[in-house]
Order: sequence, then C-alpha cells, then structure tokens
Amino acid sequence: MNKERKLIVAGNWKMNKTVAEAVALVETLDRDLGAQTDVDVVVCPPFTALDAVSVKLKNSLIKVGAQNMSEFDYGAFTGEINAGMLRDLLVHYVILGHSERRECQQESDTLVSAKTKAAHAAGLKPIVCVGETLTQRESNETETVIGRQVEGSLAGLDAEQMKDTVIAYEPVWAIGTGKTATTEQAQQVHAFIRGKIGEIHGNEVAQAVRIQYGGSVKPANAQELLSQPDVDGALVGGASLEDRSFSDIINSTRN
Ligand code: PGA
Repeated sequence: MNKERKLIVAGNWKMNKTVAEAVALVETLDRDLGAQTDVDVVVCPPFTALDAVSVKLKNSLIKVGAQNMSEFDYGAFTGEINAGMLRDLLVHYVILGHSERRECQQESDTLVSAKTKAAHAAGLKPIVCVGETLTQRESNETETVIGRQVEGSLAGLDAEQMKDTVIAYEPVWAIGTGKTATTEQAQQVHAFIRGKIGEIHGNEVAQAVRIQYGGSVKPANAQELLSQPDVDGALVGGASLEDRSFSDIINSTRN
C-alpha cells in the first residue's frame, strides 16, 4: 500500500491476557512481524504484563504501549501509574481518552489533554482517541462532537508534539460490535480531523499527523479502510488478541 504517512497499527488488548499469555502472544507476533519495517506495530497489554512484554520485545521493531496513565507526575494517587513509570518499562506509546474510559471513568477532554501533555513531557507518544456515539451520529452531531474532542483533548500541544501524537478515530457504535464504519464514513471523519488540526497548527503539521481508524477492524476489512487517503493505520481491539488475525491485518496493508 503506497501511503503518504507511515501506517501505524496498534493492538489494544484491554483487560485481557495474563503475563504468560501476553508473552506467548508477542513471541509469535515478533516471529511473524518483527522483521517488517513498512508498518509501525504497537501492542498495548494491561499494566500487569507491560514489563514482561517489554523485556520480550527489547530487540524487536514491535513497540509497547500502555492503555492509560495518570496526568500527575507522582504523589498520593492510589492505584495510578505515571508516565515516568511507563518509560521506565521501555514503553513508547500510551492510549489516552479511549471511549471506554471516557464513559466508565468519566474522562473529560480537559483530563485527556492534561494526560497528553504529561505523556509528551516524559517522552511517550500518545494515541488520543475520539469518537461519536450512535445517537450523536444519528442526530448529525458527528462533526460537532469530534471537533470538540479534537480541540479539547489536544489543547496546549505545540507543533512538534502535535506531529508526534497519533489520533485514533473510533466511532463508539463500531467498537466491539462487529459494525464498522464504511470507508466513506471513515475517510470523511478522518479528513475532517485533519482539517481541524490544520486550522489549529497549519497544513504542514496536519499533513504529518497520523490518524488511525478503530472499531471492529478485522483482516477482512482492514485493507479497504486503510487504503483511504486520510486513514493512516488502525487501533485494533478484539482482533489483536490473537496472533493470526492481528498479523493478517498488518500483512493485508503490505500488499
Ligand atoms: P474493537 O475495539 O476492535 O474490538 O472494536 C477497538 C478499540 O476499542 O480500540
């Protein structure tokens, strides 16, 4: 696939996999994908498996990401993990503002923006998620909602930080449901997001930012979605839990 920006495919394992299962999965993935350089590949295990997975992938091109972090540097925040702790485990990426956290933990755009800035300050690359619900789409609010999330969650970044931020467009109605946005729906929102970044940071920055699509990405639909001009990769949930389906998604983009 001949793309303007290097594709980035990340696996969001959510609350799945023991340490042993996680290590077994990345061992196979590294064997299947570790030598390819066409696509940036990231795996995001739960916190408990980050250390073991990082050690396993120490010499691999596959990078490790976390699924969340605190906006604070240190202190009395029981149960929280900071960006420095993740860097300490050789973690390179962190997913922020996933819709499940926006919904279950009530994470706001202001909080996501604080986390995004804290990630950059520690040298972590954030993958910032945005997406509309079905009700919002059906009431024609998609662009209003996405525009607000993009502006709010990425507020305060400078141009270099913005270029180094990955955005994941994940329509909430497509996550874990088996329903995928059509290629037209995905391309339309991705182009809208890039336009928004352009309004804030200028065209050069907007053209550099990678925007992933997420929501029921599978080997069968990945190639079509990722061939859209403004779709620069995928954030994969369910299909990243198994070696074959995750590597098939990546391989389907390399034809
Ligand atoms: P899904 O999840 O691929 O299982 O729909 C995507 C995500 O939530 O990141």
